[in-house]
Amino acid sequence: PALPPFDYTVFGGTGDLALRKLLPALYLRDKAGQVTDGSRIIGVSRSPLSPSDYRAKAEQAILQHVHADERDIGLIARFLERLDYVPVDATSDDGWRELAERLEHPPVQRDGAVRIFYLATSPGLFGPICDHLRAYGLATADSRVVLEKPIGRDLASAQAINDQVGAVFSEQQIYRIDHYLGKETVQNLLALRFGNSLFEPLWNANHIDHVQITVAETVGVEERGGYYDQSGALRDMVQNHLLQLVCLVGMECPISLAQESVRDEKLKVLRSLKPIGSDEIGGCTVRGQYRAGAVAGGAVPGYLDEPGIPPGSRTETFVALKLEIDNWRWAGVPFYLRSGKRLPAKMSEIVIQFRPIRHSIFPQAAGELQANRLIVRLQPDESIRLHLMTKEPGPGGMRLRPAALNLSFAQTFGGRFPDAYERLLMDVVRGNSTLFMRRDEVEAAWQWAEPIIDGWAARHEMPKPYIAGTWGPSQSIALIERDGRTWHDDEIPSAAF
Ligand code: BG6
Repeated sequence: PALPPFDYTVFGGTGDLALRKLLPALYLRDKAGQVTDGSRIIGVSRSPLSPSDYRAKAEQAILQHVHADERDIGLIARFLERLDYVPVDATSDDGWRELAERLEHPPVQRDGAVRIFYLATSPGLFGPICDHLRAYGLATADSRVVLEKPIGRDLASAQAINDQVGAVFSEQQIYRIDHYLGKETVQNLLALRFGNSLFEPLWNANHIDHVQITVAETVGVEERGGYYDQSGALRDMVQNHLLQLVCLVGMECPISLAQESVRDEKLKVLRSLKPIGSDEIGGCTVRGQYRAGAVAGGAVPGYLDEPGIPPGSRTETFVALKLEIDNWRWAGVPFYLRSGKRLPAKMSEIVIQFRPIRHSIFPQAAGELQANRLIVRLQPDESIRLHLMTKEPGPGGMRLRPAALNLSFAQTFGGRFPDAYERLLMDVVRGNSTLFMRRDEVEAAWQWAEPIIDGWAARHEMPKPYIAGTWGPSQSIALIERDGRTWHDDEIPSAAF
């Protein structure tokens, strides 16, 4: 069904996120025929640009960030026509009257247009922006507001932001983005678990030995040193993206795909996370910080030499930890999480490690046979692989060896996978908040993460150094090997079944 026309007002409209992700995503949806005529995208920031300056900036961003196959000069020109720009100062009254004029008097009349405010600014501005939206009569009952992360830096600041925004918009109008939920393979976790009868009966502590989640990046802190140094890997990646993945792996089957059903189930997982007490911080968590090294063949500086990083910074650029979901399904099953910058590859995956067989009738003892492993690769090369034991071909007897069933999404479905933002931006237009975080989820995630951050602060330790281009400090390997397990890194051949 055709989507309603919309006015997307993007605060932080000249910022990195808007130019790199939001405008390219909206262009690609326009190209796909999802943007109804009469829709507008209104960039807003303090910079004194004219609408045509903004269009030129947007054009450059699209040419730079959209894949060559998707660049169509005619369609880009049509998209740019939909753009407008108003300079507005979020903290004073400058520009607000003009923005209100623009929103209230569209050049063409449209029925049922959806009004969306996308706050891609620092969270300190969320409150002032919402107050101005109310003061200028722009926060109408049917408008929606999208909040980018980070939502706070601890529980109290997240609550304060939620209160400020909640004083102007109802919870149903608020869309808190976690772009990991917009990734194709992340949504595929729901399909894998609840669209197949094969896995769910085994999806519990009786059959699963442990779970691993790795989100590895090759980039360093880039131009975001100021933000990143105040944040660190736990706040930047674990509190949001990795915990959302834990939720999708760990949750019970929702009663439907309706937004509240899915979010209710995720919330239960977050509330069941076993707190990591101060006496466990040393054993269950590892913090790392990269030193100079080489990534993808190029030399890169250490974290402390990156622009904007204060000397002696103790901010972690890598974190590994072991958590438990303290409920009936998962009691005693460790979830090992790790995420870091300047690792050897950009790679995100979830590994479900099943328990070994109990008894072997083969020449190899049960302990020598590899237990089944399901690997969901989120990026790059989205795939689902299942490691199985098979008979070694030939007349040499019943020796077994591992092989993999491999479902590669590119090979199976071909085509281009839409970027997470494409999906999520349009979900806001549709009014579907299933893939967005509810207030209680964000706060429950902070409730679990904050004691870890406080525990680290109390210990006054430098993060463990690791050379850029390696898999983090050796303590991360020790964290899992102490339990007799290893981080997944082997590539066994796919069986040609
Ligand atoms: C963002 C973090 O939320 O996610 C960044 O702030 C990180 O530091 C990014 O680089 C990773 O996203 P993706 O989609 O590239 O895995």
